[in-house]
Amino acid sequence: MFKQLFACAMAFGATSAQAAGPSAEVIHWWTSGGESAAVKQLASAYRAAGGTWIDTAIAGGEQARAVTLNRMVGGKAPAAAQFNISKQFLDIVDQDMLVQLDDVARQERWESTLPEPIVNTIRIDGHYYAMPMNIHMQTWIWYSSAAFKKAGIAKEPATVDELFAALDKLKAAGLVPLAHGGQAWQEHILFASLLANMGGRQLYLQVMRDREQRAINSEPVRKVLLAFKRLQSYVDPASPGRNWNDATAMLVSGKAGMQIMGDWAKGEFSNAKMAPGVDYGCIAGLGANSPYLIQGDAFVFPRSEQAEVRQAQKLMTKVLLAPATQVSFNKLKGSVPPRVDADTSQLDACARAGAAIMRDRNRQVGAPEIYLTPDQNGAVQDALTAYWNTSMTVDKAQKALAAALRN
Ligand code: GAL
Repeated sequence: MFKQLFACAMAFGATSAQAAGPSAEVIHWWTSGGESAAVKQLASAYRAAGGTWIDTAIAGGEQARAVTLNRMVGGKAPAAAQFNISKQFLDIVDQDMLVQLDDVARQERWESTLPEPIVNTIRIDGHYYAMPMNIHMQTWIWYSSAAFKKAGIAKEPATVDELFAALDKLKAAGLVPLAHGGQAWQEHILFASLLANMGGRQLYLQVMRDREQRAINSEPVRKVLLAFKRLQSYVDPASPGRNWNDATAMLVSGKAGMQIMGDWAKGEFSNAKMAPGVDYGCIAGLGANSPYLIQGDAFVFPRSEQAEVRQAQKLMTKVLLAPATQVSFNKLKGSVPPRVDADTSQLDACARAGAAIMRDRNRQVGAPEIYLTPDQNGAVQDALTAYWNTSMTVDKAQKALAAALRN
């Protein structure tokens, strides 16, 4: 099954002549056009520093992480692997399978230069185990300027009611109002967006971080679930199974009006030579104080007995954390460099807006997987997807959500 998932596995930029420096195989799931352009920045910086970057890109986060874990257990670990900044790597930390990055953390002053939700996730029992590469915000609302124009939407929606009003106008104009990739993780994003925008920081944290049963079973969460299900009436019938970048392509072509997705979608707009604020718009949240859901990507380094692998890993930390690499990568990736003191002047208008919001600690919250274990997160996803795709009642969906967050 995994065979077909391997989009490519190659040494970016390797020449026929044998490279002298250390060689690092890197597993990640950056396979869309924009994502590949971004990861090539990392590969070429690594190559320029004398290393060989062996690129193993596997489509789909869940699949890529499964391959990494299988390979580690089977004794064939890559030099580095992508994980979300999350609890996804807790088990392999527990099993002492990852290199500790305490020296790097000290040198880079991670404690004071990274946002708190990130430090709290990559530092486990006082030790650092993951090297953050970027910060994404997973619930941006993107829109096609051409579609908005066609539908007569003159003003960006600023409340949930205005969001639905804009979706109605897009529908009336004969467009697909909401481009959606019908995969469980993307449905989770729609729900998280509505929970944050309708419930604010407090309700979001009570549900996703504190897993408070009273809050989860409350009337406000019921309203969020109803709004989530209402979104489905704006989605086209071909959405089940669609990849997120194919949904973004519907905005690029002007066929669809909006998409709620992480800012990695921006890489697809850039690839299509579209400019933010001109050809497409980005809305970080509905309302001046809407929470900013921080998520990101990190590389972890499986422990190795081989000196060459350890050398390759060392070179990776040095090259990938260099400010120039961070900026060139994040620019194409659509994300913000993880350091709060990074120079954001070269980033696009959406990223600059995001970076400014992120500096306000009162608006920072973690994306669900920052707080939930992979099992809990998976159970939430299953409950939401079942509700989205069947005729399940809202009462049943709320009970299923509460059950998913009970353990
Ligand atoms: C996320 C990841 C992003 C982006 C996205 C879609 O998990 O954080 O970097 O790759 O998946 O592929």
